[in-house]
Amino acid sequence: MNRTDGTALIKAGVIGHPIGHSKSPLIHGYWLKKYGIAGDYSRYDIAPENLARDVDHLIKEGIQGFNVTIPHKQTILKLCSELSPEAEKIGAVNTVIVRADGTLFGTNTDGFGFIHNIRDSVSNFDFSRKPAVILGAGGAARSIVCALIEQNCPKIIVCNRTKDKADALALEFGVSSADWDERHFLVRSAGLFINTTSLGMVGQPPLIIDLQDADPKLLVCDIVYVPLMTELLKQAQGTGLSVVTGMGMLLHQARPGFEAWFGQSPEVTDELRTLLSNAA
Ligand code: ATR
Repeated sequence: MNRTDGTALIKAGVIGHPIGHSKSPLIHGYWLKKYGIAGDYSRYDIAPENLARDVDHLIKEGIQGFNVTIPHKQTILKLCSELSPEAEKIGAVNTVIVRADGTLFGTNTDGFGFIHNIRDSVSNFDFSRKPAVILGAGGAARSIVCALIEQNCPKIIVCNRTKDKADALALEFGVSSADWDERHFLVRSAGLFINTTSLGMVGQPPLIIDLQDADPKLLVCDIVYVPLMTELLKQAQGTGLSVVTGMGMLLHQARPGFEAWFGQSPEVTDELRTLLSNAA
């Protein structure tokens, strides 16, 4: 795509079905404007049965790459000719880079987003100091388990309502699993506690947890970001614990894609956080 001044408009976007809810255009649109880049980041609604055809069409139109959301995060794997080690381990792709020859490189930046969100809030946080407890055993939990293994976390405990799923994830990644009811006790010796379930999200039931006996240095994270301050985080703060909200993970996971497509390493600013909070 060429503009009237002759310079090429760099194109990227996000594919999903439905796609109207995606916050990615807001994030990338903010960065394009901030850095004065002649680029376009659009939503592409692609039905599952049209994935291969429509992606091929986007490549032919000259797209540099795209983010991938539900329901394509797993099915896009087979269209990628190369995967990053993270995407391979997690079994899901959220960021695709179109290479010069038109082939696709798929990666997963959710773990990157998770780690950088924590580092943004607590710059000297030592992941290798104490065990981490993860509530939930879905896609988000998988990417966080992988990221924590990379950070040399000494023990990772996956605690899920459906124990079989926690067991399967723990077996696959060589970590530990626990019964759902154990969550109240696991916080006593943990350094990091992460909610990856939908509990506490607007319209969902609250997450019930007893934090009274938690290690005083426990860092409590929620990946839910609507509301930003979930009941879990409010309770943790009230108990004197440090907390990390979920929006930063969404913002930081977008950074590697933006850099790859538009050639600029973007910054997560307070202005961007406010923009997203107001749109949530
Ligand atoms: P994501 O990809 O965002 O991780 P997901 O794969 O749908 O989403 O996983 C949702 C997680 O929230 C699961 O771990 C789910 O627990 P189950 O495996 O038992 O379904 C958890 N979850 C959802 N509702 C829950 C509830 N009411 N109580 C406890 N856990 C819940």
